[in-house]
Amino acid sequence: MPGVICVGGPWGDEGKVKIVDLLAESAEMVVRSQGGNNAGHTVVTGGREFRFNLIPAGILHPRTTCVIGNGVVLDPRVLLDEIEALVAAGADLANLVVSERAHMIMPYHPVLDRYEEEARGDDRLGTTFRGVGPAYSDKVRRIGFRVGDLGKLRFLEKKLAFVLPLKNAVLERLHGAPPFTVEAILEEFTGYAARLARYIRDPFPLVQGALARGERIILEGAQGTMLDLDLGTYPYVTSSYPSAGGALAGAGIGPRHVETTLGVLKAYTTRVGYGPFPTELEDGLGARLREVGREYGTTTGRPRRVGWFDAAVARYGVQVNGIDAIALTKLDVLDGVDPVRIGIGYRSKGVAQAHPMANISHMKHCETVYEDLPGWSAPTADVRRYAELPAPARGYVERIEDLVGAPVTHVSVGPDREQTIVRAAGR
Ligand code: IMP
Repeated sequence: MPGVICVGGPWGDEGKVKIVDLLAESAEMVVRSQGGNNAGHTVVTGGREFRFNLIPAGILHPRTTCVIGNGVVLDPRVLLDEIEALVAAGADLANLVVSERAHMIMPYHPVLDRYEEEARGDDRLGTTFRGVGPAYSDKVRRIGFRVGDLGKLRFLEKKLAFVLPLKNAVLERLHGAPPFTVEAILEEFTGYAARLARYIRDPFPLVQGALARGERIILEGAQGTMLDLDLGTYPYVTSSYPSAGGALAGAGIGPRHVETTLGVLKAYTTRVGYGPFPTELEDGLGARLREVGREYGTTTGRPRRVGWFDAAVARYGVQVNGIDAIALTKLDVLDGVDPVRIGIGYRSKGVAQAHPMANISHMKHCETVYEDLPGWSAPTADVRRYAELPAPARGYVERIEDLVGAPVTHVSVGPDREQTIVRAAGR
């Protein structure tokens, strides 16, 4: 069983890519399974900096094939910019494959994203304005454009002639915005088609061939479980399925090939955008953690909301994803915080709740129940062996394991690849 699913939680930005990068060293393939260029991260290796939005960071390993899977929506212009920047930074993209089944973010999608957010007023979601929601909506409505359409420009033109009037009607009549023309989009996309052609393929035979040979495949999710369209804090979610189930569908792999589902959780919690956040810290400590942890969105630059570790949402994530191991990231950011708190459940309308509630209003207004643990003052960034962590830090990690019901196999204490403690079985 060669598959490893890497799922994030609760609301993303927990450093999945560092962990995927670490695992990719021993993997033949990495498949990015969902999301779009709403995600972003920087990888520093060998003194060089590489920025990623869509391409799996595994591309930096010379023998790893990296696939942008069918569950992704991508803006071809953003993908081309990313390709150019990576090549300029010295990356070799010979092993990049873009699925012809992936959907494209069309020029009207970011525009509609912005208007829809404005129309929501006080109930806005805080989207990244990248057009991700509108692109996935069109996929579901079966009026989306797939990457493979770039190889069939006549077909693309015919479909535009049908789809564009639907989009322009909304833009012009509802929002008073200028319309898009078939000619301009066709010209733009003809250029993209020529420049992306070498990467576009059906990854099905590659993925199945790798599985048949027993090669290691990592499914790289984006965002996190609580942003999942079905399982998250709807409507304050993204429009895809960051959960383990979504990873399988988004990569075209069946569950029997999965050996490990690795949950990547941050030692505290962050969230960008609006929506319930029961362990949020709105005080000076929250601001301090934001600075120490550099909690600013890589795609939008927005400051992230910061809070305590929420064991109730983490346990929920472990259960709905079938997580069997956890990589706990950014433990070093909690150095010097005393006590450290863990949210262990909620009280909503006087009733104790052990897991996140489907009712979003109850989630917004619930009271969080906390457990306090002793903090540690010694810096952890240089620790490489679990036994050398300060005793209270180990106590924190082990309490998290007990509360969420899965072992912590990796502890990350800094952004560098080396700043990772891999725990031997049995601690
Ligand atoms: P959208 O995905 O741009 O539609 O945004 C929907 C919600 O998901 C917003 O709250 C975003 O802030 C959040 N979101 C989208 N992508 C990411 C990500 O990569 N990290 C964290 N939050 C994200």
